Amino acid sequence: MTAPPPPWALLAELTHACPLHCGYCSNPLELTRRSRELTASQWEDVFRQAADLGVLHTHLSGGEPLLRNDLEAITRAAVRAGLHTQLVTSGTGLAEQRLDALVQEGLHSVQLSVQHADPDRSDELAGSRAFAAKRTAAGLVKERELPLGVNVVLHRHNLDAIDGLMELALSWQADRIELANTQFYGWGLLNRAALLPTREQLAVAEAAVERWRTRLNGRMEIVWVIPDYFSGTPKPCMGGWGAVSLTVTPDGTTLPCPAAAALPDLDPPSVLHRPLRWIWEESQAFNLYRGTAWMPSPCRACERRTDDFGGCRCQAFALTGDASNTDPACSLSPHHADLTALTTVPERRSAIVPRRPGALGVPSR
Ligand code: SF4
Ligand code: FES
Repeated sequence: MTAPPPPWALLAELTHACPLHCGYCSNPLELTRRSRELTASQWEDVFRQAADLGVLHTHLSGGEPLLRNDLEAITRAAVRAGLHTQLVTSGTGLAEQRLDALVQEGLHSVQLSVQHADPDRSDELAGSRAFAAKRTAAGLVKERELPLGVNVVLHRHNLDAIDGLMELALSWQADRIELANTQFYGWGLLNRAALLPTREQLAVAEAAVERWRTRLNGRMEIVWVIPDYFSGTPKPCMGGWGAVSLTVTPDGTTLPCPAAAALPDLDPPSVLHRPLRWIWEESQAFNLYRGTAWMPSPCRACERRTDDFGGCRCQAFALTGDASNTDPACSLSPHHADLTALTTVPERRSAIVPRRPGALGVPSR
């Protein structure tokens, strides 16, 4: 068997613990207990193996990675392995001293989440009074001249705030803003009926994004992650299964994408039991949907199959019960009409179930 090209990115989910309770979170409903998290020295080994494999970039993510008391040691290990190291955070807990310690260890950049441009609405959506800490964190990051990205997950309750969000990102001197329409996995899927926007909302928001692109003319990078439930076009999820990146979850389970733990036919390996190179090159989990040979009709004969890879396996499973089906987001999928029905008359529920350990009988940490 020819070895696949190496990955370039590693998503390191350091913990599922988080002080926020966002209902769109893509973390699994069953959150990993803190007692099962990899130690800093286990992460050090993961980063070294990842760099040997060809990985260039890691996101230190969660949950909230700042809840790890040993985040400084973990950051040092990633940087020493030669990886470009980005902290993905809600900003809560990113006080001056903590940030200085992380910068001291070589942290390269920060991505900060925000839920709404209006502080009260942002706190409401986060289920926590977090906005003031985010604003402070943004200022501290820029004072230290680190690149700052702002990430906003968009849905029915904040799509009307694009102008405010852009102004906020500008006032925080962000280098990049990612406007990511909700991907319905984990808690996001559970809350789909409360999060799905209307087509009108999306059209107005997308027009606003275009206006800002013209106005800023490249001064800030603006990423618009497509609302694939509505577009008729599937996203090239993860750049292809087992093609460019891998995810290591808090307990060492290693996945081709963060949501893949929900797939029943997957036998996800752990970095505690297998070398990362074996996982990437030889494991069943990474080879199951790699390339194009596994594809069903209509993907098999479609000229877009090497551009979008048949869409998203996790979404195909969530919507059809079979991860090997064509993603129903594609207008050519035999299941597309079911998705269109969902979006034409959006499911309606206003109450969002907040992400919390124990909320659904999920074991607490
Ligand atoms: Fe992509 Fe498959 Fe749809 Fe073709 S049929 S556009 S490969 S998802
Ligand atoms: Fe898992 Fe798309 S989220 S393949």
